[in-house]
Amino acid sequence: MKIALDGPAGAGKSTLAKALAKRCGYTYINTGALYRAFTLKMLDENIDIENEAVLLRALEDSVMKIEGDNVYLNGENIKDRIYTPQIDQNISKVACNRTIRQHMSEMQKKMARETENVIMEGRDIATVVMPEADIKFFVTASVEERARRRVKQNEEKNIFHSFEETLKDIQYRDEKDTQREFAPLMMTKDSIVIDNTGKTLEETIEEMICIMQEKK
Ligand code: DC
Repeated sequence: MKIALDGPAGAGKSTLAKALAKRCGYTYINTGALYRAFTLKMLDENIDIENEAVLLRALEDSVMKIEGDNVYLNGENIKDRIYTPQIDQNISKVACNRTIRQHMSEMQKKMARETENVIMEGRDIATVVMPEADIKFFVTASVEERARRRVKQNEEKNIFHSFEETLKDIQYRDEKDTQREFAPLMMTKDSIVIDNTGKTLEETIEEMICIMQEKK
């Protein structure tokens, strides 16, 4: 079974997708990590993504691989370097770029084809990467709750970014994700909305597992 899981930043997509994949024995693919990996490369190497020739070369030079939580860029595991406020603040430029999106979605479509039972998480999985998915979850929560969760996640990694700053970052990313010209975040007609505001992780997982069982 192919499962698409889309939704705004901080909605709990990764936690839910990982938990569902573990419970059901599915492969978990986090497409946001690929956009994050390229953002890291852009910042590290000061790449001008507005220069098409430079950008194409940089994309060709980026071999990305995902294995569960681990994200490899040209062989280096960068998972501990891509979840930072600096990446969050710069990623919208990358995610709005048409050439980068085309490159990423081709790579992700191939991953989806090659994996039998998959939960793929992102913003355009149901609309672009896996429109043939058997289930299309759209996971969301109130913006304040999403910001509170992100502050907590950051603190666990010893990154201290205030609630107000985090809320601003998330609102900015929401706007960019939903308003961008190419592959904006949106629901499809057959999306199943999972609003987990005020719900525990277990309650949300159970709700989603019930839906998956009904579909089998
Ligand atoms: O899920 P995340 O917060 O790690 O994603 C990081 C950014 O990548 C997010 O702001 C939007 C972008 N993204 C995207 O545009 N398309 C995807 N399929 C996944 C992520």
